[in-house]
Amino acid sequence: MADALNVTFAPATLPKNGVLVILADEKMSLSAHGAALEKKASRLIKHAAAATKFTGKRGSALNLMMPRGLRLEQLIVFGAGKIHDMTMTDWVNLGGKCASKLNEYGVAQASVLLEASTADIASDQAAAFALGARLACYRFESFKTKTRGKENARSLKKLVVMVDDPLEAKKFGGSFSAVAEGVELARELINLPPNILGPIEFADECAKLSKLGVKVTVLNEKDMSKLGMGALLGVGQGSAATRGSRLAIMEWNGGTKGKKPIGFVGKGVVFDTGGISIKPGASMEDMKGDMGGAACVTGLMHTLAKRKAKANVIGIVGLVENMPDGNAQRPGDIVTSMSGQTIEIVNTDAEGRLVLADALWYCQSRYKPELMIDLATLTGAVMVALGQDYAGLFSNNEQLTQRLVASGKATGEKVWPMPLGDEYDKIINSKFADMVNSGGRYGGAITAAQFLQRFVNKVPWAHLDIAGVAFGTKASDISKTWNAGFGVRLLNDFVAEHYEH
Ligand code: BES
Ligand code: MN
Ligand code: ZN
Repeated sequence: MADALNVTFAPATLPKNGVLVILADEKMSLSAHGAALEKKASRLIKHAAAATKFTGKRGSALNLMMPRGLRLEQLIVFGAGKIHDMTMTDWVNLGGKCASKLNEYGVAQASVLLEASTADIASDQAAAFALGARLACYRFESFKTKTRGKENARSLKKLVVMVDDPLEAKKFGGSFSAVAEGVELARELINLPPNILGPIEFADECAKLSKLGVKVTVLNEKDMSKLGMGALLGVGQGSAATRGSRLAIMEWNGGTKGKKPIGFVGKGVVFDTGGISIKPGASMEDMKGDMGGAACVTGLMHTLAKRKAKANVIGIVGLVENMPDGNAQRPGDIVTSMSGQTIEIVNTDAEGRLVLADALWYCQSRYKPELMIDLATLTGAVMVALGQDYAGLFSNNEQLTQRLVASGKATGEKVWPMPLGDEYDKIINSKFADMVNSGGRYGGAITAAQFLQRFVNKVPWAHLDIAGVAFGTKASDISKTWNAGFGVRLLNDFVAEHYEH
């Protein structure tokens, strides 16, 4: 993985060299009043601000080279806007904005003064700022061998966050860096090309979590065949000779012994050609990201283990490649899922739901979870419905819905409730089997969710259709590459808020 931004916490002082960043709020009061800076530089800052119309607006900056009276190379006054109204996610985003400004200036190393005395910056806010800075510095460049261009370049390597209580900030910083690592892992898995990351290689990445105390089990095709997972195995059939399917199970037992776990299940189609119902060529390369759900589950398990979450959590990822081949599954085939229900394949491109059918059934029958949440880049239809800003949320449980919506608001990884119902369910009945795997164009995201629900018994369950948010996303304050690692922060918040007390 590309080297992450090195963030350290240090006591608040006025550095004697290098690049210093201080914050200014919308009243132009500075985060550095207590330090000697005020006396030495306030006139300079006032004049420069007036000359450049800098008013402390969030995200704007005043860049002073070799400021007179200070022994710094560069003093950057960074606008925070209404600093007292900021939520924790605003602090994350501010850190991202600030790091991007430093990248724009080509700065390699900087100290940022987040002193509490006047601006009232708490240690957890400083740690949130550090998280955002780190996430904004993630790039995916390991396959570039030529000099990188200037656009979107990352110069920043090291950031010292100066606070009143570095020890306390470090404590919060521990869980924030666990989140950063989980998000980075998810991003990296999604960005990796499909020739490099097949089902077996993905399962190897899951196995690495055992270093953090996660119990990892990987089922191969023979194991899954014995369990009767005909739905999942049918999808990977075209690649069986070379890139066999896997099911990786990650268990983190950080909660009360014997307490029922919560289960996260991810769609891990390492590449989706559509199979025999092959996709058109345009943008097919994007389908390397069709394992975005699995990447999120893996990143989340990393985060939870790294920060030693006080919860029992199961992460399951169904890893397959969907390829045309002489041995590939055909439209018209009827497969038998682990649940015993039969499925008529009418479109081999509706493969994600087949993978999840067996993965969900395995999760619920084997682990008897308190609840299950699956994530999948499941349908183009959800992108038509919601665009690229919200994931579609389908659930059989009102409380679960409300909690996920709340975590979405808190983290900025937003989810929007969508309907389920019998009128949609009957669309997927089949002439020849228990159900078909595609209900056609109308309500495509909903009929896909109905399909999944046929593999969920009484347990509270939510399905997140992340096709619109998992990749090909717009850049944000904290995400500058092809994907943001959607879902890790959302579900980490969900676990922390409701399952660790
Ligand atoms: N992986 C795709 C869905 C997708 C499309 C995700 C675009 C991200 C961006 C999924 O496997 C798929 O092909 N779905 C079909 C279902 C249809 C055949 C019923 C779709 O959405 O067209
Ligand atoms: Mn498909
Ligand atoms: Zn797919």
